Amino acid sequence: MKLLAPSILSADFWRLGEQIQACARGGADLIHFDVMDGHFVPNITFGPVLLESIKRYCSLPLDAHLMIENVDKYIPDFIKAGADMVSIHIENNYHIHRSIELIKKLGARAGVVINPGTSLNLLEEILNYVDFVLLMSVNPGFGGQRFIERSLQRLKRLKGMVEDINPRVLIQVDGGVKEENIVELARAGADILVVGSGIFSYEDVESQTRKIKSLLTSSAAL
Ligand code: DX5
Ligand code: ZN
Repeated sequence: MKLLAPSILSADFWRLGEQIQACARGGADLIHFDVMDGHFVPNITFGPVLLESIKRYCSLPLDAHLMIENVDKYIPDFIKAGADMVSIHIENNYHIHRSIELIKKLGARAGVVINPGTSLNLLEEILNYVDFVLLMSVNPGFGGQRFIERSLQRLKRLKGMVEDINPRVLIQVDGGVKEENIVELARAGADILVVGSGIFSYEDVESQTRKIKSLLTSSAAL
């Protein structure tokens, strides 16, 4: 099963609700929220209040990617606001095991995120505790960036690590994923594909979502 997670970072916020409904009609499996605090990444986006209002109208699972400092302080707020999945970066967390356990204790699926320049070796131990790994294929902070080519090799290596250490773990790929590379990524082992500008830079969000979802479904069939 390959899942599509539109990232609303690239959405038109004047029409956000409408565009999320269009993604849902087009077959999106979850909605990806890029939470940025202007400290961990050089950009500021939104907090739990946005998830709270979306949760009231959207039945899809909400996937919160926290690109923030001091995650332990805010994890409860995002889960209370409706996040079903919470992913946190390994780069700015001295106690990644404790933070992952906190997410699970509060009832959400727990993910660890790794940036393009961080060694996959750092994941070896935490793979025993997470529900998913978010492999960044761009440097976090902005939508619309180019896919970092080496991410495909990293994905293949990560797939091998997951199979050896904890086959239950899903792999999510995030950044520069487009219709041109999504099938190759799915075939290389990605289970959840995050697509931002590859969906929201099109006027017809519903049909673009449907097109990308059908590419994903066909890749699973192969
Ligand atoms: C970047 C975010 C990504 C980004 C994806 O920091 O984590 O989710 O929004 O957007 P595209 O698909 O346009 O690269
Ligand atoms: Zn993201």
